[in-house]
Amino acid sequence: MRSGAGSAEERLPPEPNTAAVILPWQRPESVLAAAEGAELPPALLRPAEARLEEAAALARSIGLTVAWKGVLPQRGRRPATLLGSGQVESVASAVKLHRIAVAVVDSQLTPVQQRNLEKAWGCKVIDRTGLILEIFGARARTREGALQVELAHLAYQRTRLVRSWTHLERQRGGFGFLGGPGESQIEIDRRLIGERIARLRRELEEVRRTRSLHRGARKRVPYPVVALVGYTNAGKSTLFNALTDAEVLAEDQLFATLDPTMRALRLPSGRTVILSDTVGFISELPHELVAAFRATLEEVAEADIILHVRDVAHPDSAAQRADVLAVLDSMVKDGALDPAWGERVIEVLNKSDLLADDARESLARQKGVVLVSALNRAGLDSLKAAIDSRLSAGLPVHRISLNPAEGAALAWLYAHGEVLDRRDGADSIHLAVRLSEDDRARFESRRVRAAREALEQGSPRG
Ligand code: GTP
Repeated sequence: MRSGAGSAEERLPPEPNTAAVILPWQRPESVLAAAEGAELPPALLRPAEARLEEAAALARSIGLTVAWKGVLPQRGRRPATLLGSGQVESVASAVKLHRIAVAVVDSQLTPVQQRNLEKAWGCKVIDRTGLILEIFGARARTREGALQVELAHLAYQRTRLVRSWTHLERQRGGFGFLGGPGESQIEIDRRLIGERIARLRRELEEVRRTRSLHRGARKRVPYPVVALVGYTNAGKSTLFNALTDAEVLAEDQLFATLDPTMRALRLPSGRTVILSDTVGFISELPHELVAAFRATLEEVAEADIILHVRDVAHPDSAAQRADVLAVLDSMVKDGALDPAWGERVIEVLNKSDLLADDARESLARQKGVVLVSALNRAGLDSLKAAIDSRLSAGLPVHRISLNPAEGAALAWLYAHGEVLDRRDGADSIHLAVRLSEDDRARFESRRVRAAREALEQGSPRG
């Protein structure tokens, strides 16, 4: 198929990472008629512009620059290209004009449709599943997460292979050690993917068996972890930045190179915590990606506090909340999350700036939630205080006396605990510190080590 906009050879080369985002849109009336009374995901009935913007935000989240986007109403079935021929041509012109490298079609494409559109537009085409796989792939951090995403990717590729290449199938002849005599290319590819999938499954089993060991390793992060979860676009990243960009802490060197989605945060008590951003929940998550998504949530299991960030101004806010809680709850069943996770949740109602005054006031009075505007940096102090008090709840208070020369030990207590009272005497400092038993033990062994070193060097302790 050749588009009227000229062949790929005539145009300027595409700009890397420049994207077009296309929403093939069915009118709500026709969606409802096709559903014949069955219950539909509310997202399908949302205004087209909102869905298009959500898709564009997803594309941006993997570093694509959206140079063109459009809603293309669907009329009738188009098995070859999904879109009508006029629509295919108008996108081809936009692709050429904006030097698009990848077109994101926010829908499920058959392999044939994907190939035909790639030919017509002269650029890479990915559908919703492909886009979400890219997002998960970029964000999976645990070994289990990476394996799950790769598994979903291969399963996706295998279906593409089977259906799109069938008519291209060619005999490879009787040589080559990969395939037996007469094995076709498609069979070889399918077999290789099948073998890789089997290997990944075994590896996943192994990783799951040793999950507790991995947890142990991650627990070596010597500060409490606060994980942000919530729907995509709820404002997690904005909140993450608003909370952490005020100061760059020395502790950040621990993570900066390893993981840009983890940063240290100092709370009003002086205690340091690690804030960890996670992959956002996505509406209409394709069924085959659910396992991969849940695996990217692994770090929530490790978190001491879960900040559930909500866009309170979103029309589907309540449904989104229920979705998030249901997914977390389902993780309990397969042992990925402890049953008491609910006690670690702080619900953060973000985008309060978009609410009418009376709505904002009534939410502010609600118990157990914190109202913020990450954009305007409103409510951040209350949020930090809420994290502090949740971390302190139930922790014992220790009375500790230090020698004034133990400067490093004093700083350690301020960073790890909450100093409730301090009395500086002539030759000792008396403290009342709220500290977990683990941290108390860690403190004592550091202190013993420091004292021994000081003795060996004949210098004062510190
Ligand atoms: P993902 O990374 O896709 O999961 O999204 P996210 O939850 O990290 O959302 P992000 O921080 O990228 O914010 C999404 C959009 O909401 C951006 O356009 C932000 O500017 C906007 N936003 C975030 N916080 C606020 C807020 O408090 N008020 C308003 N009005 N907009 C906000």
